Amino acid sequence: MMVLKKFTLSLLSLAALGAALAAPVSAAGAAENNGEALFNQRCAACHQPGGIGTPGLAPPLVNSMLWPALAEQAPAYLWGVLNNGLSGTIEVDGIGYYGLVMPTQADLTAAQMKALAAYVLGDLNGLNVVLADEVLEYARSTPQSHSQLRGVRKNAQ
Ligand code: HEC
Repeated sequence: MMVLKKFTLSLLSLAALGAALAAPVSAAGAAENNGEALFNQRCAACHQPGGIGTPGLAPPLVNSMLWPALAEQAPAYLWGVLNNGLSGTIEVDGIGYYGLVMPTQADLTAAQMKALAAYVLGDLNGLNVVLADEVLEYARSTPQSHSQLRGVRKNAQ
């Protein structure tokens, strides 16, 4: 019995090792619930790895003025931008972003949006916010104009 148990366990750990080795190969699968991998796939071309931004092209997403000020509204704002995109002038760290368009990312699944929010708000900005399903559902089902979103952003700061 003991022997059999050990054997099963080592088979299981082999399977786990196999899965870990296979992960980089199937990037799409790996990125499903991994916020950082998704970010690197979907956002880093414009916002740079680590969300440091590209001056004049795409704003930094590490922003100690914006996110703590938004506080519990932060997930709603982030999900609003992902579902609707964003355009119009915004200013971050004294640099203006004019006439640029953040393309909508509404094709992301709910799980991917949650993973991205955990990465951007938690890992990058150190926020401890609740990523509530109702808030995500609202953002996904309720179109918001870009000026509405900029209004939320402006009121917080
Ligand atoms: C094609 C380039 C591009 C891609 C890809 C992109 N963004 Fe953006 N993003 C922008 C631009 C440009 C803006 C600023 C729009 C403006 O000036 O109104 C922006 C704005 C934002 C904002 C608002 C920042 C603020 O200070 O209010 C957030 C949040 C954001 N992006 C998150 C993301 C995330 C997360 C992804 C990946 C899922 C992503 N973006 C992918 C270009 C991009």
